[in-house]
Formats: sequence, C-alpha cells, structure tokens
Amino acid sequence: MYDQGLTQRQLTVITELDLEVSSGEVVAVVGASGSGKSLLAHAVLGILPKNAQVDGEILFKGSPLTPERSEALRGKEIALIPQSVGYLDPLMRVGSQVNRAAQLSGLSGQVTQVAVEQTFNRYGLASVVKRFFPFQLSGGMARRVLVSTAAVGKAQLVIADEPTPGLHPDVVKETLNHLRGLANEGKAVILITHDIEAALQVADKVAVFYAGTTVEIATAKDFPNGTIRHPYTQALWRSLPQNEFIPIPGTQPSPDALPPGCLFAERCPWVTESCCESRPQFREVRGAPVRCIHADEEHPC
Ligand SMILES: Nc1ncnc2c1ncn2[C@@H]1O[C@H](COP(=O)(O)OP(=O)(O)OP(=O)(O)O)[C@@H](O)[C@H]1O
Ligand code: SF4
Ligand SMILES: [Mg+2]
Repeated sequence: MYDQGLTQRQLTVITELDLEVSSGEVVAVVGASGSGKSLLAHAVLGILPKNAQVDGEILFKGSPLTPERSEALRGKEIALIPQSVGYLDPLMRVGSQVNRAAQLSGLSGQVTQVAVEQTFNRYGLASVVKRFFPFQLSGGMARRVLVSTAAVGKAQLVIADEPTPGLHPDVVKETLNHLRGLANEGKAVILITHDIEAALQVADKVAVFYAGTTVEIATAKDFPNGTIRHPYTQALWRSLPQNEFIPIPGTQPSPDALPPGCLFAERCPWVTESCCESRPQFREVRGAPVRCIHADEEHPC
C-alpha cells in the first residue's frame, strides 16, 4: 500500500489462512470486516493487485494454483459470483452476458445457446429477460442472473463473495438455495459472508477468519449444538440477535500492529500469559481444527 506521498509500505494482511473445499460441499467463510475474506477469494482467482506479495500454497485439484494457472482457469473451472450487480455490464443485454460467461467457460456453438436457455429456465428467468439490460431487472432477477453466469459453464469451484447483503429475506433464501443446488450437483462452493445465520442455512462447514487468520473450521452443526471451539467463534455466535445479542468488546488488530502472540488475545476472556508468547498453531479439538491453546479446556460461561 501507499503511505504518505509515494512512500510504499508492505503490510501483512493475511498471515495464516487455511481452507479446504471439496466437490459437493458449501464452505462458508465468515469473519469481521477486514479479516481477509475477499483477499482469499482474489488470491484463488489470481486477481490480487500486482504489488501484492503472496506466500504459501493454493492447490486446485491437487496441483498448485500459480498466478498463470489461476488466470487460465478463471471463468472456466473457477467462477466468481460477485457481491454487486454493478459487476454486470450496464450496456449489454443480460442474455449476452450469460452467453459470454458460457463461452468463456469453454462452451461453443449451439451448446452455448442451449446452456443459456436451460440456465435461465432453471433460475425462473423468462426467455424474454435475456433481452433486458441490467437496469431493467428487479433485485431478485439481477441476483439470479449473477448466479447464472457462474452456473452456466463447467466451473468446478464457485466463489460467492457476499452474495446476499441488503437483499429481501426471500431473495437471500433463494440465492442461498441456488448455491446449495450448485454444490448438490457436484461443484465446490465457497460462500463468503458476514451473515453466520445465512451461512448456516446451507453450509456444510464454516471457516472463521480473524485478522487474516483462520481461527476455526467448524461444521455447521457445531453452532446450534454449542460445540464451537474458538472464543471468537463463540463470541460471534453470541452476538447474533436471536442469541444473547452481546457485542464483542474491542476491535480486531490492524494489519500494521499485529501482536506477536495470539491475534485474539486482547479481546479474549480466556487469555493467559502463554497465549501471548507465540501464534497458536492449528490443532484438532473435538474433531475440528482450531487455533487456540485453551480450546479443549473447561471454561466458565
Ligand atoms: N489493495 C490493498 N492494499 C492494501 N491493503 C489491502 C488491499 N486490499 C485489502 N487490504 C487490506 O487487507 C485486509 C483484508 O481485506 P479484505 O478485503 O480481504 O477483507 P474482508 O474480510 O473481505 O472484509 P469485508 O467483510 O469488509 O469485505 C484489510 O485490512 C484491508 O484493509
Ligand atoms: S490462544 Fe489464548 S488468547 Fe488466543 S483465543 Fe485461545 S485462549 Fe484466547
Ligand atoms: Mg470482502
């Protein structure tokens, strides 16, 4: 990033992210604003800014996802459902946009037309809608067009970055069901969201991000069962209006002032001296990975 004037400063905004998604699965990625959710998606899609430095390894179908391979697979085997309908070209008919997505994914000729028609049908979009421009769509229709751009092709991995904020609850439910449907037909789906409640409706697993780190990968059932492990995951769950509605005190550390030990230490009700000595590594507690040295101990409520 640029500091003052043209002075450049290197910030470590992601430190230890771990995430795995398999065919047929919806993995939700939840966490506070600035926790690195979108950067992860951009790293997988190979669309990080040119000056971003990346360490670590992303595997797709068992092989490393280099920037070159990401670019080659983007739109073909890996598709993005963007957050905003602003991603649709305002001057292009939506049928042509879904058609273009189908072609980009490797379909051609008559097959493309048939795939577009079938996809519009599948998402309840009348054939006439193909001739509409984005401004002529309702919020729900626009959302279905965005899902269509990812569903029309042969993408095996679909990443939906905040696909539901500001939408009517019926449209939220419908969009989530579409994502579930894509997984049920064998695609791997990453659902990035602030909305844990929405995520739990369709996700198999939930990866919780905090300050550029995956702190826990829980199963969706762990939340209502009360078996989530990390104090941040528990605090997120308690902060929901239908639960205790207790806000989490304090703020997430800024990328330019990360503490040496556990990144959650300053806000953690269980913190001890040893938490501040080094970054907790992932370890398995009650069958799932968690980054907390005290997660397997008894804690007072
Ligand atoms: N181009 C950039 N240059 C410098 N820092 C960046 C850049 N893009 C993102 N960041 C920083 O990286 C961190 C993670 O950002 P990211 O956009 O991934 O967060 P997020 O979890 O998607 O948040 P939100 O929920 O608000 O969408 C933030 O601290 C952000 O300020
Ligand atoms: S390692 Fe320590 S500070 Fe970090 S979450 Fe666990 S108990 Fe809290
Ligand atoms: Mg984001």
